[in-house]
This record gives sequence, structure tokens and C-alpha cells, in this order.
Amino acid sequence: MIENRRILLVVSGGIAAYKSLDLARELRRHGATVRAILTEAGARFVTPLSLAALTGDKVYGDLFSLTDESEMGHIRLSREADLVLVAPATADILAKMAHGLATDLATTALLATDKPVMVAPAMNVRMWEHAATRANMATLAARDVTVIAPAVGEMACGEEGEGRLADVSDIVAAVEDFFDTAAALGAANPTEGGSAAAPLRGRRAVVTSGPTHEPLDPVRFIGNRSSGKQGHAIAAALARLGADTVLVSGPVALPDPVGVSVVHAETAEDMLRAVSARLPVDVAVMAAAVGDWRAREVASHKIKKRTDRTPPRIELAENPDILAAVAAAGNKRPRLVIGFAAETEDVIAQGRAKRAAKGCDWIVANDVSPGTSVFGGDENTVHLIRGADEDQTESWPRLSKDAVAARLADAVARHFAAVP
Ligand code: C5P
Repeated sequence: MIENRRILLVVSGGIAAYKSLDLARELRRHGATVRAILTEAGARFVTPLSLAALTGDKVYGDLFSLTDESEMGHIRLSREADLVLVAPATADILAKMAHGLATDLATTALLATDKPVMVAPAMNVRMWEHAATRANMATLAARDVTVIAPAVGEMACGEEGEGRLADVSDIVAAVEDFFDTAAALGAANPTEGGSAAAPLRGRRAVVTSGPTHEPLDPVRFIGNRSSGKQGHAIAAALARLGADTVLVSGPVALPDPVGVSVVHAETAEDMLRAVSARLPVDVAVMAAAVGDWRAREVASHKIKKRTDRTPPRIELAENPDILAAVAAAGNKRPRLVIGFAAETEDVIAQGRAKRAAKGCDWIVANDVSPGTSVFGGDENTVHLIRGADEDQTESWPRLSKDAVAARLADAVARHFAAVP
């Protein structure tokens, strides 16, 4: 619940700054009080007047303004909030935050605050992927700053990729999840102490993601169309809540998520080895689309066309089931084993059956019928099945894969809060 929460919204420069107006309106519509700091660069994209109109409050911008200092010093400004939300967060402000610079009101307030901080980065894809930004994000994640991952898509600069400000609805959902988790953890005041921002600190997680490639010969393989977006987002979401997270990733075209140790695996057998080496963990989320079969024998040279033009016969062998193996790992079994069920019909019933068959605790069941564009897409509609009974299934609305990941990570945090 965002209602009655005080949010200090820091708006930094960048073309996405105009979305902060909609964000302020939405946060207030959910019952929050919003006070804004607008950086000098931010003020080139939105006017203080529009931001003041939408927050219903004075907009702060100048560190050295005597009036502001007498009305409210930057220390008070940064402390009289339940959450500090930087949206959009440019590469520049993230770098300043990571290095502790205090060159204007926004960065000074961010350095002075004792409250949880969330950032919603927005920048060009190359800037987002740059080693400097990666390192800054890792520093911030290690300091319990919650990152609302940028979205993938076309940018104002014409390039495509990850770096677009997350949708306003996803930012609002992340803020809501943050306060809900804090409330579920029983903190009298979610802003006191760091545990609300990092409820999974001290927990170990392993996540599988992406497809597997099962070689036929040195150049060919059997693969599938999994993009890895959902699994990668889950690993990032668990890490944001403080879990020490290893992501075992099949071959994907995605960058390694921030704050996560990534082990790259090619085949199901590699993936199983990497997951087994990581056990014991508190939570395992098996989101990879593991190939069911591999070639019984892998040719050591490229298989050639034959002169009589008969195609080669490929004999298949069954791959290990990583999820079932983890769920049956005896004293190394994670306390919470979560699997995925991609189904095209009777999604919930099939998901329940899979939960029992695989011996896992929770199943995230999703509808992948043609037309849902879940494979490779950025959105997902899932049901979280936590037991055999009907009231143990939650159906979530259609959400971005990042929002699904954030909700799942919150559910994991709540589970461990209830059963420590
Ligand atoms: O059996 P099915 O592939 O439908 O089950 C899906 C779930 O099982 C997913 O969580 C997937 O990651 C996991 N799985 C696995 N190893 C396999 C096959 C599936 O971990 N060989």
C-alpha cells in the first residue's frame, strides 16, 4: 500500500524526465504524498511549475537557496520521506551516487538520507551497458539501493536496446511491492533499519535461465526460442532484495544482470553441474527452458552431406531434469524450490500436476499459447501455485517480466519472513 507514504521524488535530466510528471500523478492517485527535487538538467526537460502542479507541493532545486534552507534544509528534506525515488536516474546521477558526490541539492540529499532509495535508470543502451555504469550499479546494489530495471525498446536517440525508463505502472508497482514487503516483514516503520530494502540479505539463491544448446556436431545444435528475459529478471530481483544470487544462464543475447554472479552453461548437463555445485541454497528458481533431449553421440567433425543424399540419423538421449533433481537433492534440497510450467491449455491444472510431478514447492504457470507472445516478449501473465488447494493459487494480471520478477522475489521474501 502506497497510501499515506511520503515519497521524495528526485528527477534528473534526460528525455524521460517528462514521464516523472505522470509518475508523480500516479503516486498521488495511489494516496502517496510526493515532494520533488528537480536537478538543473532535469529542469531543461520539465518545468518546476508543472512538477509543482502535479505533486501539489513546492519543487526543490537549488542547494544554496536561502529560502529553501530556512524553510527546509536538505537534511530534513531527505529525511522527511519514507522512500527516496530517483526517476529517471541518469548515468550521471547514478555515478555520483555510487561515488558519494554531493554537487547539488539532489546528490546532497541522496548522500544525507537515512531512508531507503530506489532508482529507475534511463539512458542510452551503450551508456547502460558501459563497464563504468555496470560497476556503479553493482556498487549501488551492494548498498541496498533498489533498482527498477530499465525496459528494452526503441529510444529517443533512435537506438534500440535496454535503457528506456521502466513504464510508470511498473515503477508504481515496484514502489507498492516495496512497501508491501516492508509491511509483511512486520517492520513498524519500513523506513527504519535496512532490512525492508534487503529482506533476503544472508539468503543464497540459484536461478536458471534461457535455453540450452545441445550439440550435434561442432557447428550444429538443438536449441529453443527461450530469451532468458524472465529468468534474468528474477535473478536481478532476488539480488535487489539482498540475496546472494548465482544465475546459471544458457546461451542468451542479454547482458549479465547487475549484482548477480553469472555462470554460463551451454547444455542441460552443464547447467545441472553448475546448479549442483551451488547447493545448498535457500531458494532455487528454475526458469530455464532446458532441452528435453540431446544427441546420444556428438560428432567430433562437422557432419557432411552424403553422396547418396540420405539424411543422417540422429539418435536422442534424455536430458537430466534439473528441477526434479534439485527438488530431490536430500539434505542439499533448497528450502524453497520454484519451477515454471509453460502451458498452452488448462494452465492452472497442468501447473498443479507439474508441481506434484517435479516435487517442487511452487510453480509459476504461464500461458504460452500462440498469440500470447510470451516467448521473447517483455510481458507475461502468470499464476503462482503454492500448493494443491485452490486458495493456494494466485493469478496475477498481465505484467512486464520485470514486474513478475519483482513480485515473485517479494513472495519469496515474505515466505522466509513467515517461516524464517
Ligand atoms: O517438464 P517441463 O519442461 O514442462 O518443466 C518445466 C520446469 O522444469 C521449468 O522450471 C524448467 O526450468 C524445469 N526443467 C528442468 N530440467 C529439464 C526440464 C525442465 O529444470 N530437463
